[in-house]
Amino acid sequence: MYPLGLAQRYPYGQWWLGAHASEVNRTILPRTILGQAVVFFRTESGSAVALAGTCPHRHFPLAKGCLVGDSIRCGYHGLTFDASGRCVHIPSQDKVPPAFAVRHYPVVERGGSVWIWMGSSDAADPALLPPLEEIGLGAAGWAMEQHPLVTIKGRYELLIDNLLDLSHISFIHETTIPGGGAVAAIPPEVIDTATSLNVRRQAKGMPGNPLLKLLFPDYDGRFDQNFDAEYYGPHLIRTGGAIAAHAATPGESSRPLGITNFIHAITPETPTTTHYFVVTTRNFRIDDERIARMNFGMGAKIQPQDTDVLESIEATIDQVGDARRELVCGADAGAPRASAARRADPRRTRAS
Ligand SMILES: [Fe+2]
Repeated sequence: MYPLGLAQRYPYGQWWLGAHASEVNRTILPRTILGQAVVFFRTESGSAVALAGTCPHRHFPLAKGCLVGDSIRCGYHGLTFDASGRCVHIPSQDKVPPAFAVRHYPVVERGGSVWIWMGSSDAADPALLPPLEEIGLGAAGWAMEQHPLVTIKGRYELLIDNLLDLSHISFIHETTIPGGGAVAAIPPEVIDTATSLNVRRQAKGMPGNPLLKLLFPDYDGRFDQNFDAEYYGPHLIRTGGAIAAHAATPGESSRPLGITNFIHAITPETPTTTHYFVVTTRNFRIDDERIARMNFGMGAKIQPQDTDVLESIEATIDQVGDARRELVCGADAGAPRASAARRADPRRTRAS
């Protein structure tokens, strides 16, 4: 996390994945994001809404209230707030003082998810979203599986560090990611793009394995496979990447077979807990239910392995705190750079 510190500051100047679109409906969804209680719901015409999650009157959770048309009514004394957060009704009085309001958060629904802006509303620009369609989120020609949300008892920086160093695949996921045993031995290459920092490991001439056989049943040879860890910001990392038929003879080029991604959306819940949304995408055999089932099955095995590691580390931080120093080795090609980029961008740590 470079450096490791007990005091956490949230990056505010960006979109965070607040909820998958399917979670936001006509039932109030409470979720704590960047330490703030939020409620999500949909208006009768289908627009996603995010408001502060506690009534400003007596601080009762609004999730325990109910929807009345496009408004939300507190379950304690009946104060009612419209979709902009303005109080529109106080029982027992005719007038509503202007101070009676809850915060309204900008949201954008894209790529199958509802993205929320926790900083100053004026700065909420949808152009700041990562290139979601490029990586298969809500894009034509791609399959997408949204995995169940896991909330980790560990700070979000631990998850970023985890994902940007995929050499850990060879150790904690050796049995759950076929071919993963080879990853740690491949030196990473760091590729800067206009919107990302991609830590790439390229496995060349890999033998087939049960996973690759299921993905590409008509191909019998060796594979070239990218193990990318592409950082778009603290909110989004893509792992996986292109898989190709290995060129059998020197001078020949490999033949692309397809792209398979694990998309990791990282949303701080509190200073020491993190919402972890995983979405798998691929641009081939998009209607094949067996691949979808396999992706869900792999996710259900892989995610608890990472969660266990991160929660174990979080448990040590209180004990060692700022006194602890981390050591940087060759596999850490990406994490320190991503951390430096976060620190260098003041926009990201301003609350408003
Ligand atoms: Fe992992």
